[in-house]
Amino acid sequence: MLAALPFAGCKGEPSNAAGKAPDPSGAGDGEGDQALFDRDRQPQVIIEALGLAPGKHVADIGAGTGLLTIHVARAVTPGGRVVATDIDGAVLDYLHTRMMAAGYDHVVEGRVVPPTEPGLEPAEFDAILLAQVDHYFDDRTAWLKKAAPALKPGGRLAIANRLHHRAAAVAAAEAAGFKLVTEVADIPGQFVAVFEVAQPSPAPPPPPAPSKGSP
Ligand SMILES: C[S@@+](CC[C@H](N)C(=O)[O-])C[C@H]1O[C@@H](n2cnc3c(N)ncnc32)[C@H](O)[C@@H]1O
Repeated sequence: MLAALPFAGCKGEPSNAAGKAPDPSGAGDGEGDQALFDRDRQPQVIIEALGLAPGKHVADIGAGTGLLTIHVARAVTPGGRVVATDIDGAVLDYLHTRMMAAGYDHVVEGRVVPPTEPGLEPAEFDAILLAQVDHYFDDRTAWLKKAAPALKPGGRLAIANRLHHRAAAVAAAEAAGFKLVTEVADIPGQFVAVFEVAQPSPAPPPPPAPSKGSP
């Protein structure tokens, strides 16, 4: 049994779509919370939208206690890797305990980051996942601009959140140089938007060389 936390996925607010605190049994952050989370958040929809598969390298931003991270770790195993970031070291300790219990601690690296920094290496990641975290950023666009170089060529960014955050999230991603490539609206009250780095528009053709006059 894992030790109890006030909120299972996120200390700041309820993690599920229904706005309920997880684990109504009061038994703590155990199997009941995972089942409740899975029912409300439908992690498989996010996994499929991002095209996660064994061998992929994923950054799970604001991973919290790891209720979603565990699905990401399973999807990229064998051969893949997950960097799970959070500004809160205590939730990452809990995430580590969860990964150990599930046998994914060799797949997932927890990383404490400052609020304005993605903390990711350049050109390392097939996917960056922001699940119910972008609304915490002081400046979504600035954060996303810093994160973009961490994607490998063709890598994807997914923003998953409650529907009332959608407009601000999509606008910020586009302002940061991403283009929306697919969107899933299968989860009640939530959206999953998947982006790629937009190709820079081709440079305009050079002006014709001035014709040399005849002598
Ligand atoms: C609502 S929880 C979401 C947890 C998990 N991603 C999920 O979908 O259930 C938000 C988490 O984001 C973290 N967080 C907030 N601001 C952050 C930032 N700027 N960078 C990284 N993590 C952040 C919080 O500490 C918290 O653990």
